[in-house]
Amino acid sequence: GKYRVISTKPMPGTRWIRLLTDQDCRVEICTQKKTILSVEDILALIGDKCDGVIGQLTEDWGEVLFSGLSRAGGRAFSNMAVGYNNVDVNAANKYGVAVGNTPGVLTETTAELAASLSLSASRRIVEADEFMRAGLYDGWLPHLFVGNLLKGQTVGVIGAGRIGSAYARMMIEGFKMNLIYYDLYQATRLEKFVTAYGEFLKSSGEQPVTWKRAATMEEVLREADLISLHPVLDKTTYHLINKERLSIMKKEAILVNCSRGPVVDEVALVEHLKENPMFRVGLDVFEDEPYMKPGLADMKNAIVVPHIASASKWTREGMATLAALNVLGKIKGYPVWSDPNRVEPFLNENSPPPA
Ligand code: GLV
Ligand code: GLV
Repeated sequence: GKYRVISTKPMPGTRWIRLLTDQDCRVEICTQKKTILSVEDILALIGDKCDGVIGQLTEDWGEVLFSGLSRAGGRAFSNMAVGYNNVDVNAANKYGVAVGNTPGVLTETTAELAASLSLSASRRIVEADEFMRAGLYDGWLPHLFVGNLLKGQTVGVIGAGRIGSAYARMMIEGFKMNLIYYDLYQATRLEKFVTAYGEFLKSSGEQPVTWKRAATMEEVLREADLISLHPVLDKTTYHLINKERLSIMKKEAILVNCSRGPVVDEVALVEHLKENPMFRVGLDVFEDEPYMKPGLADMKNAIVVPHIASASKWTREGMATLAALNVLGKIKGYPVWSDPNRVEPFLNENSPPPA
């Protein structure tokens, strides 16, 4: 191989490796045992010759790493993730490194986890499982683990891009929920879907589903029974869900977060869970991963899973493949498959073209 390409982690499947080795690349996969590599670890990996790197969302890709990669002759970096809040794209530009991410292949898988958390929270699956295993079940009772019926309730989606829209469709089509969403851009396709589905239900003599685009996020928080967060994490969405916004949500609402942890003020959330035992939450992401804020792990009204929203075999292999194509594209002079500089992956089909 003429080109040296590094992956900071072993990734699922072999297709991504073949793609690179078939095209003059030598692939080196970091075998360090520690889960999160430091900037120094990665600089050592890059060494003095490296053409491209596939990195992970746990790594801090800023000034230091991009200048190091550039010094080693590298011109390509891809996150193996759709989110790239761990990547300083301006620093990459400054050092002439192209950046890629992996949108698309994880849309449905991530939406399915958000749906799983929604159902698990509404029917108290985890609490009930713990109860069974603890040997506490001594017979059917009318009051045992009574939860919420989703049908006819309102699902609130904050951030109706690819993942948010896919999740909304699942909850509407699967459970006949009404939709209220908040996004800077109109989710036209989603609106059309709900309208058509509503017509279908009406024509079969069922209660039709409805939709509404909210003018403010507060409107969603006030009206929805189940709220799922799908915004991109940036300065404008940091602590989007804070103490004040939690306080306007219904006392028995369910909140799901499969986006990025810092979108929610986790300390305020723990307080809210303590004060509102009927409020439930399903979390895939945390403010300070891999840690949880004190008290969260003790809350029975919280379901917590370790950032696994994109974890299906098909999706993870797809992410690895796209990350490899991004890096290969730049090295070989083809377009980078997905370049956040060109394609804003978090906006929906009506977003304005990137500046
Ligand atoms: C995972 O969190 C991703 O952004 O792909
Ligand atoms: C519950 O198991 C029922 O049969 O209603």
